[in-house]
Amino acid sequence: MINSEFVKHLSRDEQHVKNDHIIELTKILYCKTADNIKNVFSSITTIDSLDFIDENAKEMVDFITNDRCTIESLSNILEHDYYTHTHSINVAVYAIFFGQILKLDKEELEYLGISAILHDLGKSKITLDIINKNGKLNEEEFATIKEHPRLGYEIAKSLGIKNEKVLSGIKHHHERLDGKGYPDNLINDELKFFPRIIAICDVFDALTTKRSYKEPMSTYDAFKLMKEDSLHLDAVLLRKFMQMMVHTK
Ligand SMILES: [Fe+2]
Repeated sequence: MINSEFVKHLSRDEQHVKNDHIIELTKILYCKTADNIKNVFSSITTIDSLDFIDENAKEMVDFITNDRCTIESLSNILEHDYYTHTHSINVAVYAIFFGQILKLDKEELEYLGISAILHDLGKSKITLDIINKNGKLNEEEFATIKEHPRLGYEIAKSLGIKNEKVLSGIKHHHERLDGKGYPDNLINDELKFFPRIIAICDVFDALTTKRSYKEPMSTYDAFKLMKEDSLHLDAVLLRKFMQMMVHTK
């Protein structure tokens, strides 16, 4: 693991080494996560072969880790918060697998992967005291954390990311169909495809991952919760996501 304090103190000349480390670390984590998810796919019955996932996933990780904007952005996340970095990779792996099940073409998948891996980029601008708070956030803290999608969008744009779909996934992954999400209170059709997909992958990973202050939820319990209307995720996509996971057990 790269020590974030160490990374902060690297000289300018050492930045390329840092970037190489981030690329390597991202590849290792990505492959590990992909392997873990693939283990879940062990007795898959609905899809004939997972070979296409292997091949595309490999190309995807090469694409993502060779993109300068993405690596600079990942660097921002990693220096700040290791959990968010691994969460971002998990969400990207889920999103890419899911995108393949949804039969997105190669270009769409690449954009989806980039959007997913950078969805929490804005958290790099929010104090760790709030991000890692053990307990309920107060009103002011919640208002601060609600800024991260917009901050991520601004950072991504400043780093040269122009694709509107990628940007919408970053800015709108906390929007919900009932208009009660943030930051723009989008409602129904205003909510685009990428943020709908990333929202599902994001919530699923957050619920099923162990944190210092909580045990991981089982897949069953996570799905039960995600199906509740109160979460206002896209019901059709959620059903397909659940099928992807359940038929793989
Ligand atoms: Fe987020």
